[in-house]
Amino acid sequence: MLEFDKEHILHPYAPSVPTYDMELVKSAQGVYLELENGKKIIDGMSSWWSVIHGYNVPELNEAAAKQLSKMSHVMFGGLTHESAIDLAKTLIEITDENLEHVFFSDSGSVSVEVALKMAFQYWSSQGNKKKTKILSFYKGYHGDTFGAMSVCDPVTGMHGAFEAILHKNIFAQEPLCAFGQEWDEKYIEDFKEKMKCNHEEIAAVIIEPIVQGAGGMRMYSAEFLKRVRGVCDEYGVLLILDEVATGFGRTGKLFAYEHANVTPDILCVGKALTGGYMSMAATLTSKKVMEGIESNGNVLMHGPTFMANPLACAVANASLELLLSSPWKKRVLNIEAQLRDELTRCESLEIVKETRVLGAIGVVELNKEVDLAFMSKLFVEKGVWVRPFLNLVYIMPPFVTSKEELTHVTSAIFEVIQEFEVYIKK
Ligand SMILES: Cc1ncc(COP(=O)(O)O)c(C=O)c1O
Repeated sequence: MLEFDKEHILHPYAPSVPTYDMELVKSAQGVYLELENGKKIIDGMSSWWSVIHGYNVPELNEAAAKQLSKMSHVMFGGLTHESAIDLAKTLIEITDENLEHVFFSDSGSVSVEVALKMAFQYWSSQGNKKKTKILSFYKGYHGDTFGAMSVCDPVTGMHGAFEAILHKNIFAQEPLCAFGQEWDEKYIEDFKEKMKCNHEEIAAVIIEPIVQGAGGMRMYSAEFLKRVRGVCDEYGVLLILDEVATGFGRTGKLFAYEHANVTPDILCVGKALTGGYMSMAATLTSKKVMEGIESNGNVLMHGPTFMANPLACAVANASLELLLSSPWKKRVLNIEAQLRDELTRCESLEIVKETRVLGAIGVVELNKEVDLAFMSKLFVEKGVWVRPFLNLVYIMPPFVTSKEELTHVTSAIFEVIQEFEVYIKK
């Protein structure tokens, strides 16, 4: 199987013949992935932020089976169904009261495309054809489709290859004030200046609230987000919050924007929406934005084949029910306390620049680029699944990870970085 995979199957951001050995996963249960050779490893990544309840969850399995016996899919044009209606109700209930309309799509990137379309159409439908740009931030990441790529950091956003054909947007300095750090107005100056000079062209500002994820795993001050909202209001520019990674409890709040008490005009969610069972995302917006889009007889121009897929909606409903009825906040805060406690010792290693933690997210930043092949292999040997990138070794474990399992992961992180330090010195 691995031979076939190597020859024919492409993997994310990887050469067609990978430079490292792929692991073959046979099954998964709780927080463990079982490899073909029988070895069980703890997933420290929640399969890229999504598997918040762990794997093979009876409640989610049951919801999927029940929905399968009714219908796994039906088109959403002209038809609707109970699972989508229930899910929309819940999303409207648990997000900001300003958000009243839900657009279901298949992935986080597409939810961002929809958000960008909403912002553009909001203005163009009302006759403003000048607002054709989005203001985004350096170190931001919003997905891999073309619209989403155009608002990712041009360097850390992994899309340098497409620069020549991407829509030219405006970028402001990344938030340089860390989460909990004392605020200074200087941190928002660049953004303010860019807005002042370009607001007539800017349809919306897009940002990942509180945590910039794939562009650098940076946790920033809630004050920054508050100021962003304030400046958007000052110039009448829409604010898109991309909670695809942070949504559903990851940062210790159900949605990261709650840290700053701000209201988005448009909100993107995905990843953990279905507890990582299947690909689904949603874009929510307000009555005001929807009315703007529909001015002069226009409608929002998007409609994927698998929009509001019933199977995904049913699993999402079960996942949200499970999350909201669980002590998720306590679990996330316990993980946060333990990560703070156990990752700090990495700072004693010469190669470590700093560690940072927020909610169930732990980051060890190195002052050297990681060696993915070397480190992944060692992690697996130590019974852990962690996938470092850039100069970052980071984890966002499932919320159900036990104290002992988490200690296993943090110990492995320390040991792997320590061995990496020795390896690069040779
Ligand atoms: C903040 C953010 N937005 C959007 C995306 C894209 O989501 P997807 O990979 O489901 O298309 C990601 C993926 O990592 C993300 O972290």
